[in-house]
Amino acid sequence: MGSAMLVEWGEKLKTGWSFMDDDHRRFVELLNDLHDNSLGASSNFAAPSMVGELIAVMRAHFDSEETVMQQIRYPKLPDHRAQHDLMRRKLDALTADLDACTGIAVDELIDLLSTWLAQHIAGCDRDLARRISRRFSIGR
Ligand SMILES: [Fe+2]
Ligand SMILES: [Fe+2]
Repeated sequence: MGSAMLVEWGEKLKTGWSFMDDDHRRFVELLNDLHDNSLGASSNFAAPSMVGELIAVMRAHFDSEETVMQQIRYPKLPDHRAQHDLMRRKLDALTADLDACTGIAVDELIDLLSTWLAQHIAGCDRDLARRISRRFSIGR
């Protein structure tokens, strides 16, 4: 029985930029799918392909945000990238677990990602979104 805390898509997570919002909404969908899937599972071996997709989507998303940060010469790029790097290392460890078929603690994973995503999107990503908005409304 899953007891993971779920994150919901809503105003609090919106940045107003679809290149971010579309991916963020996808994360939330995948986390919810993973949660639904884990409810009927008898072990922690639930859904390696779903976890794999989530990892791939997150990695690609971090890269695209960092490309935009470089393009607009975002001054907080190092701090923002450091947060992505922390999660990249966790995703690397998760990938190693998947490859070794050791099983994934799905509830823990959902808790970790839900908490991290909500904080990261509300903080770093929304700050980036505000910066992009300023960049494209002033002097252009
Ligand atoms: Fe993001
Ligand atoms: Fe980010």
